[in-house]
Amino acid sequence: MALHRILVADDEESMRWVLSKALRKKGYSVDLAADGNEALRQVREQSYDLAIVDIKMPGMSGLDFLDKAREVRSDLLVVVMTAEASMKNAVEAMKRGAYDYITKPFDLEVVDAIIEKVSRARDVSSQVSLLKQELKDRYQVEKNIVGNSPAMREVYKTIGKVAVSDVTVLIQGESGTGKELIARAIHFNSSRLGKPFVAINCAAIPKDLLESELFGSERGAFTGATERKTGKFEQANHGTIFLDEIGDMPLDLQAKILRVLQEQEITRIGGSQNLQVDVRVVAATNQELLEKVRNREFREDLFYRLNVVPIHLVPLRERREDIRPLVDYFLARASAELETQPKQCSDEAMELLCNHSWPGNVRELENTIKRAVILSNDPLLTPSDFGGLFDRQQTIHAAPEEQSLEAIVEAKLRSSMNGIEKLDKGDIYDRVLEQVERPLIRFTLEKTRGNQVRAADILGINRNTLRKKINDLGIQLKKD
Ligand SMILES: Nc1ncnc2c1ncn2[C@@H]1O[C@H](COP(=O)(O)OP(=O)(O)OP(=O)(O)O)[C@@H](O)[C@H]1O
Ligand SMILES: [Mg+2]
Repeated sequence: MALHRILVADDEESMRWVLSKALRKKGYSVDLAADGNEALRQVREQSYDLAIVDIKMPGMSGLDFLDKAREVRSDLLVVVMTAEASMKNAVEAMKRGAYDYITKPFDLEVVDAIIEKVSRARDVSSQVSLLKQELKDRYQVEKNIVGNSPAMREVYKTIGKVAVSDVTVLIQGESGTGKELIARAIHFNSSRLGKPFVAINCAAIPKDLLESELFGSERGAFTGATERKTGKFEQANHGTIFLDEIGDMPLDLQAKILRVLQEQEITRIGGSQNLQVDVRVVAATNQELLEKVRNREFREDLFYRLNVVPIHLVPLRERREDIRPLVDYFLARASAELETQPKQCSDEAMELLCNHSWPGNVRELENTIKRAVILSNDPLLTPSDFGGLFDRQQTIHAAPEEQSLEAIVEAKLRSSMNGIEKLDKGDIYDRVLEQVERPLIRFTLEKTRGNQVRAADILGINRNTLRKKINDLGIQLKKD
């Protein structure tokens, strides 16, 4: 947004005259005021992009004008003019939020340079507000989170319920299921909207840096700490902090997070002061946190503090009805972002996409669609546009309602281990594998009528290995 309207306030008439002449020549619309009160009245009535005000004026000083004007219009940019002798004033003005200052007397070039700078800043700040608006739009649940499966409908309900309060939310789900998306949706639907949303990935930051990232550090707290650093909790004040991959947080830090949750206060490293923070916590993990609690890798008390409201994001392969709408959504988005013609999937391609197991969940689907949209020239995407995706063993050519072997095994494992409070040392790995290997080998031998050479070929293993497995697994060879 370019700079248009400028207000000049100075009690010296010659100054008003010089400035207005120079600025009007450059095409700006300029209003003049002879003192602070008059300037303030004009700010109330008109919307200015910039005010250039003298600090020393009768009635209301430039500093008081600055305070009052910003009450009326918080986004007004103010540049103050001050005599060289009173630099103190300039510093004070900057503290109170002036954008810049000019020392009198000045060349008009100085004014030009400042106006140039203001224009650029306005561009940036209008971009920021556009971005903010865009963010708001992006995280409208209705528009930006796709999926109508029962599992997702549960998630929407929960977002709706938790958004209005400050309760802590723990989001669990495999990688790529949308944990961060949901965390943002909670924030952008809460009263903290407009306040910061600060995300920190606890797995991506080295352990010894994580603490100062989270809580900040005082100058000299450790070697290399040459300046005071504000931590993420302070940055997120009044907003939401998203503790991503919380399962990877070291135990000693878990204790400190617990304290923040309980007391709502933090201490910077090397600091002695407790700082009050008002932060809503949303945490996420792709690990079984309860399992970690059992193994004493995660504090039980913290787990319960975080898990006030749990949200479980189901893997995509277990809510296949969401795939088609997601494909359509990502097709539309990719075409818009890449400014290409709208593209569609052929029935055959859609069927393949719907039957794929998507180990990387929605993220993998999104990337797959984007890649296909970029690479193909045809508005209709066919299976060949999805490259190697379907050559791999991941596609299960089954009716959509049928579950993949992996999903069946997983469900089976979960149900058989449910209720077991503590998993002991043992041989589960071998036992589970046996139960997969045995039927697989039995089935293959059946198909080859007991021909071990062919069975080994089909299975892609060595004949001796097959012989050994038949022995070890106690597979009965049927002779016909
Ligand atoms: N239901 C959904 N509707 C639309 N887009 C989605 C949905 N779920 C996930 N996405 C998109 O998929 C991508 C991955 O989501 P996100 O980063 O939130 O997942 P994550 O669970 O945090 O993954 P990771 O564990 O890998 O960090 C993002 O681009 C996100 O916008
Ligand atoms: Mg994530």
